[in-house]
Amino acid sequence: MMVCEYKPGLEGIPAAQSSISYVDGQKGILEYRGIRIEELAEKSTFLETAYLLIWGELPSKEELEVFEHEVRYHRRIKYRIRDMMKCFPESGHPMDALQASAAALGLFYSLRDLHNPAYIRDSVVRLIATIPTMVAAFQLMRKGNDPVRPRDDLDYSANFLYMLNEQEPDPLAARIFDICLILHVEHTMNASTFSARVTASTLTDPYAVVASAVGTLGGPLHGGANEEVIQMLEDIGSVDNVRPYIQDCLERKAKIMGFGHRVYKVKDPRATILQKLAEQLFEKFGHDKFYDIAQEMERVVEEKLASKGIYPNVDFYSGLVYRKMGIPTDLFTPIFAIARVAGWLAHWKEQLAENRIFRPTQIYNGRHEIPYTPIEQR
Ligand code: CMC
Repeated sequence: MMVCEYKPGLEGIPAAQSSISYVDGQKGILEYRGIRIEELAEKSTFLETAYLLIWGELPSKEELEVFEHEVRYHRRIKYRIRDMMKCFPESGHPMDALQASAAALGLFYSLRDLHNPAYIRDSVVRLIATIPTMVAAFQLMRKGNDPVRPRDDLDYSANFLYMLNEQEPDPLAARIFDICLILHVEHTMNASTFSARVTASTLTDPYAVVASAVGTLGGPLHGGANEEVIQMLEDIGSVDNVRPYIQDCLERKAKIMGFGHRVYKVKDPRATILQKLAEQLFEKFGHDKFYDIAQEMERVVEEKLASKGIYPNVDFYSGLVYRKMGIPTDLFTPIFAIARVAGWLAHWKEQLAENRIFRPTQIYNGRHEIPYTPIEQR
């Protein structure tokens, strides 16, 4: 058998052939199905981009209308799921609530007809439609309130913000939120997508695929970093404290949250777009002093770590955008999941098209031929 070199974190090892998205980490380029992220952020909507990723082409006007209509009318969740969520402890993290709720969907839709395009489409629609409803429902119920019913007259992002705050959002905030979803929907073979593809390769149902990916996204080295960024900005507290804070992190060899990326060695193009969106929000709704701290951090980190290719990643400015919209910090990662579900589903579909179960190898470095020691002799 061929002996291969072990690469921690599988760095540089291709886990799939994929035509869904592309990253050039040296030039800071991100494309979905060949279209640059900057163009999609300016011209597309989240649902149109989701369609592009999952079905491979931009939809025609009619195709988009049908898809939007289907998603709009599948937003409600079953009362039993809502009642199940009511039993979740309010102190629990919303990502855990989301993972459990996504998995529970599989109980209600247990038919598994993976070769049937209609089944694939129904599952895609149901997951994209209901994940925001579940995130908003948990947020309201943990405060002791009933969840708000989705509004069929509102588009995808406006409806989510409405369900969260019980009031119609400002149109600029809703559009900026929709762009945030576009920026987070897909990003090649990251940890949660890998998780989704491994789970998909066993030919289980899509709810299990999404639930496993949600669990993977939650960690602080992945999607959870956006929450940690806000905590870090709060801890720093003022622009003057930035330099000593960073110096201290470097001395302790601690990671500075929201910086660094396995693939990007320049500033993440999504961070550049998010920074501009944050500025638009500050212009309309008032400045946030955390933005001054963030900008100073970017300057100091560049000065100290540019040689290692450490620059802001997608999580650095997204929290500031959501904070300005009044969204609680522990919902930032569930919002990442609302977007990324479409990317996971695109990978689910691609994996099914040419499936082979993931079964990598390992390099055994344990012992052999050890005799069993009876318990009284240990
Ligand atoms: N702060 C300080 N130093 C860093 C950072 C950072 N945020 N990131 C990487 N480095 C240094 C690291 O110390 C190492 O230095 P040396 O070679 O001297 O030991 C070098 O850069 C390579 O780091 P690594 O940990 O081997 O890189 P990785 O590719 O395994 O990790 C990462 C990538 C994103 C997990 C890491 O950069 C990190 O932990 N960043 C902070 C958490 C974060 O913001 N995560 C969000 C990632 S982007 C969105 C997402 O995936 O969800």
